[in-house]
Amino acid sequence: METILAKTAGFCFGVKRAVEEVLRQAEAGKAPVYTFGPIIHNDQVVNELSDKGVRVIHSMEELKTVPRGIMIIRSHGVSEQIQSEIEKAGFQVVDATCPFVKKIHRIVAEESREGKLILIAGDASHPEVEGIRGWSSGPVQIIESAEDLENISISEGQKAVLVAQTTFNYKKFEELVEILSQTGYDINVMNTVCNATEERQQEARRIASEVDAMIVIGGRHSSNSQKLYDICRRGCTNTYFIETLVDLDSKPFQSFRRVGITAGASTPKKIIEEVRNYVRTKL
Ligand code: F3S
Repeated sequence: METILAKTAGFCFGVKRAVEEVLRQAEAGKAPVYTFGPIIHNDQVVNELSDKGVRVIHSMEELKTVPRGIMIIRSHGVSEQIQSEIEKAGFQVVDATCPFVKKIHRIVAEESREGKLILIAGDASHPEVEGIRGWSSGPVQIIESAEDLENISISEGQKAVLVAQTTFNYKKFEELVEILSQTGYDINVMNTVCNATEERQQEARRIASEVDAMIVIGGRHSSNSQKLYDICRRGCTNTYFIETLVDLDSKPFQSFRRVGITAGASTPKKIIEEVRNYVRTKL
């Protein structure tokens, strides 16, 4: 079978960096190693790390019950308060926050210190947005969609700065900026959307339009993988969503000649290669 594997399939730069950091710390074996929340949304990776002794901590309460050690902050980042509470609790913090997210933290900290209102385009319940919000020393308003702009209250003379969750849809961000520019408010727009997501989606869209079937590999709970599936499905009706090779039903593939493969940001390379080799040699 001819296969086309997306170059952008799998871990983005920030996730790869964070996972490698956890592995490095686990292998060094100097102290118990923890991650604050699962390092990525992929059970296999989390289980493999757990076999190496890395434990996932879900809350500050849980943190207080375990022996002190190294706490790794994942690529989404955390608020300033959480970071200092972890340190105060006696843990050594290893910050694996993606540098692109860290940049947003810095913008928010500096601009809020200057008295500016912080506007964040993003999903209010997402850990990355919770973290970003937590670096502001002043008021923050979160904008999930254009409808939320009706509830935005900016007083006269108040300066504001708009940032975005790194995975926010770029087209939606542009729409928000367009609407805001018509309001006459003094808003400094910082485009902090990370193009890793956009590039992955664009490549998936292109490949899906060139193949007979498309395979999207990703975690069942991974929203970016689900999104990739939807995009591919629009370009290619024979699109299949799998978590690992076990989920792949080979029957429909008998009538295909070219198969495209992409994967969400939390899919390890090992799984992608396994699927690709199988499709190439066994189907
Ligand atoms: Fe960083 Fe962009 Fe990935 S912000 S974690 S490289 S999606």
